[in-house]
Amino acid sequence: MTRIFSGIQPTHHLHLGNYLGAIRNWVGLQHQYESIFCIVDLHALTVPQDPAALLRATREVAATYIACGIDPVKNIIFHQSGVQEHAMLAWLLGTITPLGWLNRMTQFKEKAGKARDNAGLGLYSYPVLMAADILLYKATHVPVGEDQKQHIELARDIAGAFARQFGKEVFPLPEPQIFGAATRVMSLRDGQKKMSKSDESDYSRINLTDDAETIALKVRKAKTDPEPMPETVEAMAERYEVANLVGIYGALSDMTREQVVARYAGQQLSGFKKDLTDLCVEKIAPISAELNRLMAAPGDIDAILKKGADRASAIAKPVLAETYDAMGL
Ligand code: ADP
Ligand code: NA
Repeated sequence: MTRIFSGIQPTHHLHLGNYLGAIRNWVGLQHQYESIFCIVDLHALTVPQDPAALLRATREVAATYIACGIDPVKNIIFHQSGVQEHAMLAWLLGTITPLGWLNRMTQFKEKAGKARDNAGLGLYSYPVLMAADILLYKATHVPVGEDQKQHIELARDIAGAFARQFGKEVFPLPEPQIFGAATRVMSLRDGQKKMSKSDESDYSRINLTDDAETIALKVRKAKTDPEPMPETVEAMAERYEVANLVGIYGALSDMTREQVVARYAGQQLSGFKKDLTDLCVEKIAPISAELNRLMAAPGDIDAILKKGADRASAIAKPVLAETYDAMGL
C-alpha cells in the first residue's frame, strides 16, 4: 500500500518554493494514492508566533492547498493540532532518538543561529515531531522539497530504531519523493540561500498571494549579474541568481533548463525577466484569486479542517494504540 503524507508550516504566505517543491507535486499524486496533507501548526510554534496570525495562516495554508488544486474530499486536509496523537507519538519517539542524530540536523543550525542556548527545545526536537507526523499514518512516501531530505532520513532512522528496540515493525520506512528540476528554489535576493518564508526580505520570494504588480516588481528587483543570458547550462554554473531564475522559468513552463537557455541564449536579461514575470502571473494569479475567494469564508475552511482532522484521527488512533502496545504502555 502507498500512502502519502506531507505538510507545510502556517507561517507567513506560501511562496513559489513551496509550490514548485511541494504542492504542485501533490496535485499530481492525489489521484493516484491515498494522500494526507497537513498544516503543521505545532511546528510553526517552534519560533515565536502571534496567536491571531497563526490561526489566520492555518486557514490560509488550507485555502492555498485547495486553490492549488488539492481536492479536500478525495484527500485529507487537516491541521496538526486537530489530531492530538501527533504530540503523543512525538514524545514516544523522542525517548528512542539519540541527541547525536538531532545534532546533525542542518535546519536547527540554520534557524537557531549563533545563540544556540536561546533556541527552544521545540526547535531542536522539530525533526522528531516531523517523524511522528509521518509515522503516525504509516505513510510510505513523503513528497517534499530537497531541503527536507535530511528530516525524512531521520524519520527512517527512528522507524528503524523502533523496530530494533521493540521487535515490532509498526512503522514502514518512509521514502522521500523529490520531483523535478526546481526542488530547491532559491531566494531572489541571494542565489545561494533557499527561498523561505522565514527570510526577512519580502523581495526574496514570490508569494502565492502576490498580485501581478507585486510579482513584476519582485522579478524586476531580483538580484542578477550584469552579463547577458548564458549560451549554455554549463556557462551559468556559477551564476547562481540567473540559474535560479532559469530553473523557475523551466519549472513553470515544463521546459528543461537546456530548453530555456537555448530560447534566451545571449539575449538581455531584461527581456527574459519580462517573460518570467508574465509566466509567474499566468500561473499564480488564478491561485491567488481562488485563495482570496476561499479566505472570505473562514467558517467553510474550518469545517473542512475539522472533517479532515476527524478522518486523520481515525487512522492515527489505532497506530498510536499499536505503538503503546509495543512499548508496554
Ligand atoms: P519554509 O521553509 O518556507 O518555511 P516549510 O518548511 O513549511 O517552508 O516547507 C514546506 C514544503 O515546501 C516542504 O516540502 C519544503 O521542502 C518545501 N519548500 C520550502 N522551501 C522550498 C524551496 N525554496 N524550494 C523548494 N521547496 C521548498
Ligand atoms: Na522548510
